[in-house]
Amino acid sequence: MLITSRPLDEYCRLFGLSRAALRAVPGPVLDCPGGAAGLVAEARELGCKVVAADPAYAAGLPELLARAEDARHTMAAAMPAAPHRYLAERHRPYEKYLRSWDRARRLFAADTAEHPGDYVAAALPRLPFADGAFALTLSSYLLFAYPALFGPRAQLTALLELVRVTAPGAEVLVHPLHDDRSRRTPHLDELRFELGRRAVGSELRTVRRHADGRRRYVLALSRPARYRAVPWTNP
Ligand SMILES: C[S@@+](CC[C@H](N)C(=O)[O-])C[C@H]1O[C@@H](n2cnc3c(N)ncnc32)[C@H](O)[C@@H]1O
Repeated sequence: MLITSRPLDEYCRLFGLSRAALRAVPGPVLDCPGGAAGLVAEARELGCKVVAADPAYAAGLPELLARAEDARHTMAAAMPAAPHRYLAERHRPYEKYLRSWDRARRLFAADTAEHPGDYVAAALPRLPFADGAFALTLSSYLLFAYPALFGPRAQLTALLELVRVTAPGAEVLVHPLHDDRSRRTPHLDELRFELGRRAVGSELRTVRRHADGRRRYVLALSRPARYRAVPWTNP
């Protein structure tokens, strides 16, 4: 799996957020998986607290950065080889786009060294955070992007865990809802039904229609004030 290093502005575009909206979040934000993203560091500059969680943090910074650089090289080869998959204007020109990753990776490296406590080695579906600890939770390029690693059952369990650590009334935002070949998750309706059975509200939000004419979706989850986490035990 690639360890990507997206900057804050790309996170904003993916999730339909803005710097002002991040600044206005009334508590800490969780980024899971955090990868080698610049979000924690850049949000700090905005006065916003973000905690990143990712199992790759257990490997230590040198190995993590080496894997993140590999991911950059993989993308540099993959983007021109499959341009139909990278039509969004944020990807063009590719080299400029990837330079934004380089900058984010440098910010990540410096910030990890300075604030190691904000980068937690942890893996879904079990996060070492208290119920309702976060005022916003973001999850990009994991649960639906890698269906071979997260099947429907694992996706539901992981989504419930993200909901558990998110405060009542606050949101979990997940993107993308398609895999690495742009194939939309076929069982999304069933997943939303199962979430609803556990009193988790779900909404498919259109972030924006891009120049390529394709819509981009974010799955927004929220829980009521009296939500009690119930593990998924029955298929
Ligand atoms: C493609 S990166 C996405 C990083 C970042 N969210 C982004 O959008 O650039 C996928 C990340 O998921 C992490 N990962 C793999 N298994 C995970 C799990 N079970 N729980 C949380 N993160 C996981 C990997 O270590 C990797 O850094």
